[in-house]
Amino acid sequence: IQQLFNLFKELSTDKKREVGKELNVLSKYAEEVYRSTKIELEEMATSSSDLDLTLPGIQDFIGSEHSVRQTIKQMIEIFKKMGFSVAEGPEVEDEYHNFDALNFPPNHPARDMQDTFFIENKFDTVVLRTHTSPVQIRMMENVKPPIRAIMPGRVYRNETLDSTHLAEFHQIEGLYIDKNVTMAELKATMMHFARVMYGEDIEFRFRASFFPFTEPSAELDIRTKYSNKWMEIVGCGMVHPNVLKAGGIDPEEYSGYAFGFGVERITMAKTQLDDIRKLYENDVRVLSQF
Ligand code: PHE
Repeated sequence: IQQLFNLFKELSTDKKREVGKELNVLSKYAEEVYRSTKIELEEMATSSSDLDLTLPGIQDFIGSEHSVRQTIKQMIEIFKKMGFSVAEGPEVEDEYHNFDALNFPPNHPARDMQDTFFIENKFDTVVLRTHTSPVQIRMMENVKPPIRAIMPGRVYRNETLDSTHLAEFHQIEGLYIDKNVTMAELKATMMHFARVMYGEDIEFRFRASFFPFTEPSAELDIRTKYSNKWMEIVGCGMVHPNVLKAGGIDPEEYSGYAFGFGVERITMAKTQLDDIRKLYENDVRVLSQF
């Protein structure tokens, strides 16, 4: 406005009269706006002196579900849609449910100190369960067939830690018992699960295997189109007649299949993590990516 007044001096007398009025209106208006804004700002400054709108904001870190928990939930959803219910059992088990009832011979090497955490107990031998399979026995003891359940939970092994082994991890067991259950149903169930989890276009490889509690037994490997490596995802098989008997079920009348997933392995395959220990180092920079 000051500059306009300077230019004003150079105008002719006629023009001065015309423009002068307008200039006065403008400068009055500007003064008024300046005055009222100043008062307004001064009032704001005294009434809320602790509010500084120029400071940078404080970022809140919002927690999220651990990727292992996400996998468990996702797997439960997939199996629920196939009609499986969810059951749980104790992490501190007796040797009977963890081994004997599952048809482990008394001298089976898997029982020895290498793999199992034994707990001292005067009355009988108590262990930290080495797998979720004892929940199968507890289920059979308590529920009449048909049984169709999955059993997620924490398991323990006396392992040396490395990039693929932990001493404490999670499994999801599955058990289906009814009349005339066949291996074809087991195969189809495992393949359906893997396709939902990893995509329609994965390749499968069923390998013959051994578990004391299933006969025949198999392991399933899958391969995605992004990788040329086969990856083992589950151990499974037809429930051994001795196991059905131990659970109080007549093997002449009923048959069934069982399977056991390692949740951390499934998570690693999903997240492309290359070291199982990263799941439990609780580094937010790693975990928040999933
Ligand atoms: N319990 C077996 C393991 O820990 C997995 C499994 C479960 C295999 C059920 C077959 C049937 O390795």
